[in-house]
Amino acid sequence: MPAELPLKNQVALITGGNVGIGRVTAMELARSGVQVVIAGRSRERTQPVLDAMAALPGAPAPLFLPLDLASLHSVRACAAQFLALSLPLHLLINNAGLAGARGLTEDGFEMAFGVNHLGHFLLTQLLLPTLQQAPAARVVTVSSRAHKRTPGIDWDALRRPTQTRTGIREYAVSKLANLLFSAELGRRLAGTKVSTYSLHPGVVDTEIWRVVPQWVRPLLRLRGLITPEEGAQTTLHCALRAPASESGLYYADCRPTRPARNGRDMALAQELWQRSEAWTR
Ligand SMILES: NC(=O)c1ccc[n+]([C@@H]2O[C@H](COP(=O)([O-])OP(=O)(O)OC[C@H]3O[C@@H](n4cnc5c(N)ncnc54)[C@H](OP(=O)(O)O)[C@@H]3O)[C@@H](O)[C@H]2O)c1
Repeated sequence: MPAELPLKNQVALITGGNVGIGRVTAMELARSGVQVVIAGRSRERTQPVLDAMAALPGAPAPLFLPLDLASLHSVRACAAQFLALSLPLHLLINNAGLAGARGLTEDGFEMAFGVNHLGHFLLTQLLLPTLQQAPAARVVTVSSRAHKRTPGIDWDALRRPTQTRTGIREYAVSKLANLLFSAELGRRLAGTKVSTYSLHPGVVDTEIWRVVPQWVRPLLRLRGLITPEEGAQTTLHCALRAPASESGLYYADCRPTRPARNGRDMALAQELWQRSEAWTR
């Protein structure tokens, strides 16, 4: 296994670091000496993590930036606030996500697609020049094996409110988009100092399914849940240890893993990229 990257003076921005997998990831990065910037919807709900990070001996001061991924305006404001800090950026961790929430984002995209993919797509584009200035940088995007549960991407459905009652089908599309985005970003950045990884964290005991109907929740639990501490390990592996030569790959259990056929469809990845670019222009 490759050695851990040197972490002194490194800066990481993580979305949704206040709870769940993101909280553990943020804490572990801070414990390793990384300066962590948490971008999220609520400073109040993030304060306990910021306090815990600040209390770590020798840890650089953590920061919070407001970010609602359901609003492209908010994504632009968050990126602008980060750039105004004049910090370097070595790690961007696109972790935030929702499942089961229904409706449209502020900009008229299906909720799961807009938050899980499109907001992160724009955030990454806006921060890419800063990532490219670092001696080595990584973009880690938390996808899911749920990407296997969709036969493809219905482009028209992305402009309509969530159709299914559980939102599971739409969640699967958004997680396929996460994976394809990371693969295409890796392809575009081949030969540069920025590498990209997407991953399935495991089926983790978090609040991600809090808004799905009550009757679905026991079915999700039947699959056996791992702890957020266990669930953060593949993100941390991709952020700190995965070789740059594996840029663009999809990981599970801290190893590169073969995605479903749609997840390997680079024509689909390019079409998603072009449409995402047009939608966020
Ligand atoms: N749990 C699993 O079994 C599982 C499996 C596969 C993949 N994943 C993926 O793992 C990632 C982390 O999920 P988790 O399980 O840790 O869930 P979680 O505990 O529900 O955390 C989700 C995070 O996303 C944030 N978020 C949601 N909507 C947002 C928005 N509009 N703008 C900004 N932030 C937003 C939440 O912030 P608030 O506190 O403001 O809501 C929270 O910080 C997600 O990408 C998820 O798809 C999870």
